[in-house]
Amino acid sequence: MTLPTGTVTFFFSDIEGSTRHARQLEPAAWIAALEAHDRLVDGLVRGHGGAIVKHEGDGVFAVFVSAGDALAAAVAFQRSVATDGLGGLAGVKIRIGLHTGEGQLTSGGRDYVGVDVHYAARVANAANGGQIAISDSTALLVADHPLPGSRLEDTGLARLKDFDEPRRLHRLVVAGVADDPRPLRALGPPSNLPEPISVFVGRDAELSDVLALIRSSRLVTLTGPGGSGKTRLAIATAERLVSDLPDGVWYVPLAAVEDASLVASAVATALSIEEEAGRPLGDTLRSTLAGRQLLLVLDNFEQVIAAVRLVADLLSGARGVRAIVTSREALRIAGEQEYRVPPLGGLDAVSLFVDRARRPARVHRDRRERRDGRGDLRAA
Ligand SMILES: Nc1ncnc2c1ncn2[C@@H]1O[C@H](COP(=O)(O)OP(=O)(O)OP(=O)(O)O)[C@@H](O)[C@H]1O
Ligand SMILES: [Mg+2]
Repeated sequence: MTLPTGTVTFFFSDIEGSTRHARQLEPAAWIAALEAHDRLVDGLVRGHGGAIVKHEGDGVFAVFVSAGDALAAAVAFQRSVATDGLGGLAGVKIRIGLHTGEGQLTSGGRDYVGVDVHYAARVANAANGGQIAISDSTALLVADHPLPGSRLEDTGLARLKDFDEPRRLHRLVVAGVADDPRPLRALGPPSNLPEPISVFVGRDAELSDVLALIRSSRLVTLTGPGGSGKTRLAIATAERLVSDLPDGVWYVPLAAVEDASLVASAVATALSIEEEAGRPLGDTLRSTLAGRQLLLVLDNFEQVIAAVRLVADLLSGARGVRAIVTSREALRIAGEQEYRVPPLGGLDAVSLFVDRARRPARVHRDRRERRDGRGDLRAA
């Protein structure tokens, strides 16, 4: 059959833990399960107006002209496997991912090329068995026609392997059918926090103070004279919040920004939000941030203090947004918690000095290990 081109919805699925199944089962039982799997998917894809592009092992690549049909096929597939298993094998779990994009065929016309195919495969890979992961483009198309008994859940911005910019993912939850509670397997919440150039020393009490403040109020300003450690404390606090905030932690350096009217653009740059023609950037920021759960770290605010209105606006329009501001003076707006950063205490100051003198190279190794440790959730 001829494969569709233009805007199509790509469907990728595979069996979770197939290596384990293959090793534990008698070969005949595993073959029977795979055959049942192929018959089931082929029938469901065709029955919902789609086309199979190919099978690869226990993985399936199919395509649909209608996003709604792709979704219905995915649910039917999960439902059948959840109720009947696969060829006598119970407890099998399938991961499915859907993404709508440009369907461009190879010259032979039997396969697709282009970045959307790769993204679709990554979306599927973000799903655990028993889940249906959905890209933002597919979610937009199906949001107005929910399947009975299902709901779309926004799982926040996610970075997928080889895709640098984070994109929003969703999952389709159907009770008893596709409701595995594990978080999607993405590369962790996005963040652009700078790598500190030296070890963070001491400050345990200050860290827990600021963490408690930012958890209870959405605007915390770290104040103190130059060099008192405001920036380091803000970044150290923010690092500890990365895993709590699905839409990430964003560092906005303002030291080089001299005009308060450019703060909006600094925030937009940090978050990769694009300015829209004919619309004030502040409006775009407000509406983009409205549904997000994230933390802004606004560093060196003292020289753009006239931009307090923007901060107040963003926070009041987006209840999931928090900000840690460093500034030599407080912003003095409603809801602000000021925290005066105390000078580094005697012992900490000594160990800071010793650490600087002795082991400048150690830092990078520590940082890398820490990052790897929380990086890929799949490894967990
Ligand atoms: N807890 C810490 N551990 C290690 N180094 C620190 C710590 N606190 C501060 N420093 C170092 O001390 C210097 C000054 O700290 P920082 O830049 O955070 O101060 P600041 O209050 O933000 O200053 P400014 O008002 O000029 O921006 C930096 O080199 C920073 O790396
Ligand atoms: Mg600073």
